[in-house]
Amino acid sequence: MATQNNWGRHTFFMCVLFLMAAAAIAMSAIVLHRMLNDDDSDDSPTSAGTGRPVSGAEVGNPPTTPTRSTPLPDSRQGAVVDCLPRNLREPRQDVTRGECERRQCIWRIAANSRAPKCVFPDTVGYKFQTGNTNHLKISRTGPEEVYGMRVHPEVDVTVEDYGDNALRIYFRPSKTQPFEIPEEALKINRPAPATDKQYRVEVVKTPTFGIKVTRNSTGSVVFDSSLPGLTFSDQFLQISTRLPTDNVYGFGEHNHRRYRHDMNWKTWTIFTRDMAPVDEWNLYGAHPVYMNLEKKGKANMVFLKNSNAMEVTLQPSPYPAITYRTIGGVLDFYVFLGENPNHALQQYIHAIGHPAMPPYWTLGFHLLRWGYETLDRMKIIHERNVNAGIPFDAQWGDIDYMYKKFDYTVDKSTFKELPEFVDQVHKEGKKFVVIVDCGIGSRDDLYSEAKNNSAGYRMYEDGLEMDVFVKNSSGQVLVGKVWPEESVFPDFTNIENATKFWKKWIQYFNDTERVHIDGLWIDMNEPANFVQGSVTGCPDNHWNHPPFIPQIFEGDRDSGSLYYKTLCMDGVQHWGSHYDVHSLYGHSESIVTYNALVELNPNKRPFVMTRSSFAGTSKYAFKWLGDNGSQWRQLHWSIVGMLEFQLFGFPLIGADICGFWAQAQYEMCLRWYQLGTFYPFARNHNIYKNDGVEYARDQDPTAWNSTFTDIVRRYIRIRYKFLPYMYSQFKEAHIEATMVLRSLMFEFPEDENTWSIDRQFMFGPSLLISPALDEGQTEVTAYFPKGRWFDYYEGEETRSSDGRFVTIPTPLSFLPFHARGGSIIPYQNVANSTQYSRLNPMGLWCALDESYSASGSLYVDDGESIDSYTTGKYLELKFELKEGEHLTISVVHQGYTPPGNLSFTVIEFSGLPGVPTSLSIDGRPIEARHIQLKHKIVQLVDIKLDITKNHTVNWMVYK
Ligand SMILES: *[C@@H]1O[C@H](CO)[C@@H](O)[C@H](O)[C@H]1NC(C)=O
Ligand SMILES: *[C@@H]1O[C@H](CO)[C@@H](O)[C@H](O)[C@H]1NC(C)=O
Ligand SMILES: *[C@@H]1O[C@H](CO)[C@@H](O)[C@H](O)[C@H]1NC(C)=O
Ligand SMILES: *[C@@H]1O[C@H](CO)[C@@H](O)[C@H](O)[C@H]1NC(C)=O
Repeated sequence: MATQNNWGRHTFFMCVLFLMAAAAIAMSAIVLHRMLNDDDSDDSPTSAGTGRPVSGAEVGNPPTTPTRSTPLPDSRQGAVVDCLPRNLREPRQDVTRGECERRQCIWRIAANSRAPKCVFPDTVGYKFQTGNTNHLKISRTGPEEVYGMRVHPEVDVTVEDYGDNALRIYFRPSKTQPFEIPEEALKINRPAPATDKQYRVEVVKTPTFGIKVTRNSTGSVVFDSSLPGLTFSDQFLQISTRLPTDNVYGFGEHNHRRYRHDMNWKTWTIFTRDMAPVDEWNLYGAHPVYMNLEKKGKANMVFLKNSNAMEVTLQPSPYPAITYRTIGGVLDFYVFLGENPNHALQQYIHAIGHPAMPPYWTLGFHLLRWGYETLDRMKIIHERNVNAGIPFDAQWGDIDYMYKKFDYTVDKSTFKELPEFVDQVHKEGKKFVVIVDCGIGSRDDLYSEAKNNSAGYRMYEDGLEMDVFVKNSSGQVLVGKVWPEESVFPDFTNIENATKFWKKWIQYFNDTERVHIDGLWIDMNEPANFVQGSVTGCPDNHWNHPPFIPQIFEGDRDSGSLYYKTLCMDGVQHWGSHYDVHSLYGHSESIVTYNALVELNPNKRPFVMTRSSFAGTSKYAFKWLGDNGSQWRQLHWSIVGMLEFQLFGFPLIGADICGFWAQAQYEMCLRWYQLGTFYPFARNHNIYKNDGVEYARDQDPTAWNSTFTDIVRRYIRIRYKFLPYMYSQFKEAHIEATMVLRSLMFEFPEDENTWSIDRQFMFGPSLLISPALDEGQTEVTAYFPKGRWFDYYEGEETRSSDGRFVTIPTPLSFLPFHARGGSIIPYQNVANSTQYSRLNPMGLWCALDESYSASGSLYVDDGESIDSYTTGKYLELKFELKEGEHLTISVVHQGYTPPGNLSFTVIEFSGLPGVPTSLSIDGRPIEARHIQLKHKIVQLVDIKLDITKNHTVNWMVYK
């Protein structure tokens, strides 16, 4: 019962069953209904999914393409702003004409039941007072109070150029000291000053004040805040902005069911929370950023640098707009006006910090489950996968290796020989990663036992002595309850001292517990708490019960509170009150964990995987999508989630393959492994006991029968084959801030058909993946944008002169994927881990475009040094194929010689204009026996081209 409403990690399913029995709590019952009902259709007027074109009209133009259902009549004369938004502090608030008029707002009858009935008049907000477009002062024109708080009478607005095509728009009430995210948490990198500005800024003065940003080249108004309802108070800030189109992507972290947003008055809340990704609530991370695709393939991204609990409401065409309501901080917007989606994203990522380069082995396959229970069981499953010839790179340990869930301890009864096992894993050429939680056990009796189990263990006292735990508002250490029962929480925002503390215990785990780990998986860092705020509750004040509460999950509990299943909001941390820095907890833990690992192993890239994240976390840690469910619909949702995390700057992302909670099924799990072939991060993981009683079945590659294992092995081997290509994409992401996983919209922004496609995706620019995602699915209707596409298995060409849908059969053993014409994709023979596959012969797959050209690149480094690129210790090759007859392989940077005398031993061609003859390599003719035809793929075999040298391959084709 203690965890009846703990909708978080590991106890999720138990709650579901509890709630089924109790069926007591209305909101949760809705959640449950949606969870158990596999039909995830929503009532939006636009279609989701593989997406035939949906409305993407520019403002003012009617939608030109058919939609699934007709949009509801819209009585708006323009964008409107809700004057009576739902406030979880007053769940029973009246939305009546009387109440509306009392607030000096306008009552209207909206045909669309989701549209607000009470909207602000033009006059409520602020008006221009003095200044120019760079610095101005505005003054309040509406009521003096909002939710019982004073509305600040004067606000300073600053507009700053961030280079030629980005800017910052910053609003701060005069004469106040609101919370601001410190630079230690997130320093926005500023590009060179503008020399050729591509946009213009205007101050709109009537009828409503606003800042308006127009893109010169197209005239699109990219940002326009001249909407009523602008509000600044200490704990309620509201602003609305018009959008040039209704193509909106991003905002997180949520379980969005579609990549392109449903704009029909949907509200999304941003506040970190331990919550399984099964419904539309706020989840683990906080990413107040979106991308908007404009006309002509242009795109912009807008980031609101604010860490307070907030919500965003989207309103549909023909007047698309966004309303933000945040309950603290300042309004600090960064607007990036890219030339296209890729460029806008590069600008954003450059501003918040480029993602870390993952160690090579992390791109391999990862084996894990919660509920091994004993080392013996972990070994059995590990070994049966080794014996089945499943390539994998890392064995992971979930919380069952710990002694009673105390961080950095090993249970000496069930996992006694873990150190020896980890050393053996290393001898196999594999790695070992463990979970750690942020709740540090402090209950006397359990803590004494932990000290008996682990000699010299004194994490709790140590933290007290170093004064690194979060305190409550009376200055005592805040005590909550997590896995080791009573627990305290390191204040990771005290970066320097928390790093000393954290590092000391990582070192203890290595030296005293003797577990030589290769990475840390930091979990529960929203932070999660099994009690409300603390073991003694939370004082009744304006932090714990703020006057306005956005629509966060369970924000209506305890008469409206923010601390449900986390810490008291008046908790004290180094960067500020927990109220302000709550959503930075996982971010700060990522910084500290990264720093500690770098200090311990100065030359190695740290591997940190975090559940909670904020803008900029990807400099320090990687991310997975959390505790998903073993449900068919989660396959599709995982694609949406991964594409969104690319927008947030996390190229290394994946969902637990076959799902975390509930029982996986044969067909679903097979399809999931196929999809996982192209997850940037590919890990199989699942829950221990579904309902606290029933043991969840195994779902590792050997968990069913030999048919299952054979199919899974085939796909994991395909993944390993393409790792050199994948790794090269990660280097691009790290250095150029491009995306690894790309939606089709990203690569083909001018093709309207791509805008809502989220059941297919691209890995890098060159591979198009079209997976089967539904039960019993026998075919996929895949979209092929304009160009030539070549099937992986037989080289069959799909030519698309102007974009078309093609139906592909998908027997259970089959995952369709294609190379894009114009690509050269490097690959390597497979081995059972990357330590060995990296020594194997390599190949190139050249897929030609309409002009019989193709290009590509390969990046190779040692896979583990911290700054291989910046120190120049890498090898980089460029491949160029021209006119269907000449291929050049050029070494463009030679700062590293990979071991194994690597060479290209096969070159494959798809889409040559004819069969090649008169072949020569580096000027020497080669015999015809080197040319083979495999299905429709022309292969040069039995060759040997040293990858550290330049080469030319020439031939002739009879066209
Ligand atoms: C864009 O418009 C602004 C304001 O009209 C102007 O100052 C700027 O030179 C323009 N930039 C370009 C590249 O046309
Ligand atoms: C960190 O620890 C040092 C040494 O105990 C102390 O002097 C300093 O005030 C601490 N810093 C913070 C921010 O707590
Ligand atoms: C971990 O322990 C091993 C073996 O005792 C040692 O060689 C290594 O240096 C330790 N690592 C760190 C980071 O201290
Ligand atoms: C494995 O199980 C599947 C699903 O039940 C079945 O179709 C297949 O024939 C089985 N394979 C073997 C070798 O038993």
